[in-house]
Amino acid sequence: MTTATIDSAQFRQVLGHYPTGVTVITAMDADGQPLALVVGTFTSVSLDPPLVGFLPDRRSSTWPLIQAAGRFAANILGSDQMAECGSLAGKGDKFGGVEWSLSERGLPVLANAIATIECTLDNVLDAGDHVFVLGRVEAMAVRRESDPMLFWRGRYGGFAG
Ligand SMILES: Cc1cc2nc3c(=O)[nH]c(=O)nc-3n(C[C@H](O)[C@H](O)[C@H](O)COP(=O)(O)O)c2cc1C
Repeated sequence: MTTATIDSAQFRQVLGHYPTGVTVITAMDADGQPLALVVGTFTSVSLDPPLVGFLPDRRSSTWPLIQAAGRFAANILGSDQMAECGSLAGKGDKFGGVEWSLSERGLPVLANAIATIECTLDNVLDAGDHVFVLGRVEAMAVRRESDPMLFWRGRYGGFAG
């Protein structure tokens, strides 16, 4: 099978059957304003060295600002954070109504995230119309016990195990 036989609607429809979590990548811009990029592509990559990864779309306007910052936090969302997710994934005032604070390392972290993972930028690899970002973990913590937000077939939900 060649890539020419795969159209984008089919790609989205089939891959949409794979469930993901929802994570917000945050950083500080050069003016001291918080940045946010909602991703479904966050993943654990390596234990030694400790690496995590995610895949920004090359068209993202926020990714170049996060890259310039050189460090970021990954905030794992709980299933009760739909409103925050909608705001942070939008184009307007992303942090309107979103509680956040500065970590000891000076990164913006979401107050209600289930867990936060603070990273320095390790590598940015070519990945088609996306890039694959590797972050080296510098600090990490579970903030509260809650079921995660899940995204599956275009819908949001929680975990019922
Ligand atoms: C559940 C969910 C998962 C997403 N996953 C990604 C992702 O992995 N990579 C990405 O670049 N954008 C992803 N997006 C889209 C971005 O969050 C954002 O809305 C869009 O890219 C606009 O980006 P910009 O503000 O940087 O221009 C996702 C959005 C949602 C709601």
